[in-house]
Amino acid sequence: MEKYIIMGGIPLSGSVKISGAKNAVLPILAASLLSSGVTTINDVPRLKDVQVMKEVLEFLGCSVEWSGTTMKIDGSKVSSIEVSDFLMRKMRASNLVMGPLLTKFGMAKLSFPGGCAIGSRPMDLHLKGLATMGAKIEERFGFIEAVAPGGRLEGSEICLDFPSVGATENLMMAAVLAKGKTVISNAAKEPEIVELQNFLNKMGAKISGAGTDVITVIGVDGLSSTEHTVIPDRIEAGTFMTAAAITKGNIKILNANIRHMEAVVAKLREMGVKIIEEAGGIRVIGTDNIKAVDVKTMPYPGFPTDMQPQIMALLAVAHGTSIISENIFENRFKHVDELRRMGADIKVEGRIAVIKGKRSLSGTFVNASDLRAGAALAIAGLGAEDATIVDSIYHIDRGYENFEQKLRGLGAKIIRVTETNRTGIK
Ligand code: EPZ
Repeated sequence: MEKYIIMGGIPLSGSVKISGAKNAVLPILAASLLSSGVTTINDVPRLKDVQVMKEVLEFLGCSVEWSGTTMKIDGSKVSSIEVSDFLMRKMRASNLVMGPLLTKFGMAKLSFPGGCAIGSRPMDLHLKGLATMGAKIEERFGFIEAVAPGGRLEGSEICLDFPSVGATENLMMAAVLAKGKTVISNAAKEPEIVELQNFLNKMGAKISGAGTDVITVIGVDGLSSTEHTVIPDRIEAGTFMTAAAITKGNIKILNANIRHMEAVVAKLREMGVKIIEEAGGIRVIGTDNIKAVDVKTMPYPGFPTDMQPQIMALLAVAHGTSIISENIFENRFKHVDELRRMGADIKVEGRIAVIKGKRSLSGTFVNASDLRAGAALAIAGLGAEDATIVDSIYHIDRGYENFEQKLRGLGAKIIRVTETNRTGIK
């Protein structure tokens, strides 16, 4: 398996360009199934998860061309309504094709998305919403089969028990071709939801309210194709901000949208990190005196759960004791044991982690359990003494494009090896 070897203690400097947002492009690719022609998506990040979504679209019969960061998908070629167990297990977000398939073809069949390192990841909110729209849903032999009687879903009033991002996206897409009006209350408000609304409306959908907790969709008879450019990845931007902070560096983040990161920026400023909007980007300046703070992960616009492991790595070397409560996923502290191996003083009780800041962490062998945990361990390594070897970095490749190249561009000493080369970095 591939590993990173990271030599810590080098203050990052220079500028870094943020890639297109993984969690925006995945629902948009699923939505391209709804088009009657070829959809062009620009600024598509070259990520493992995007590769899997391409495989899912091709498995369904679409022709997909991906060159550089532009992807062209022909939604008129869909010839199947079933996603294989193999593909579903590769990536949970494959479940985002359920709404498009069901509303366009009247049927959808996919295997239960596997749980993952951060939780069981059920789909009950997706399925309850689709059933409210008239879908008949059967769960058997590990597959979910959904059928729209008469081939068309009914516009309905749906209230989500929890503002689930995926359920909001699936139900928005299901509603665009349903008969009549659908109102989704207690909807997720993430920027990626607004992005999906913009994309679908460019294809001819009639959606309003994304970004608020009530989204209204007026069903139409069909969608045409369009061209769209993906928004920058706010979690990648937050990850680089944390890397600059832990190394006491001074970097400029290009083309990130600070409006999408207010909770993260506010928390980092509270910790003493200087974050200044400049022409063409955001300046981030670390400090010797990182302050301990409390963090509660919440649905957007609250502090994002996808930044929880990264901020924990920073709090591990803050002055004082911090408390993190993880309110989104039931099991998103897998990175704690690995940070402890680096000397972090962290106690976990259920969904609460108490972090007692240390002067510094020390490099050692650690293992990434999932995407953001891997990023957090790389950040911890950048700030630690000596060398840190992060194993299972395929997790990081799922959500960060050219991660080590971008870090090297900021002066970090990081290399990717297939075998741990015990001599470390030359
Ligand atoms: C999206 O996952 C993101 N993934 C996740 O990012 C992110 O952590 C999450 O939203 C929360 O912001 C993509 O957009 C591809 P949810 P999603 O449905 O849609 C429970 C990353 O690192 N729930 O908002 O799967 C669920 O178990 C990834 O980029 C139900 O109970 O998240 C969780 O506890 C990780 N029933 C909570 O809701 C359901 O039917 C939030 O899940 C659906 C969800």
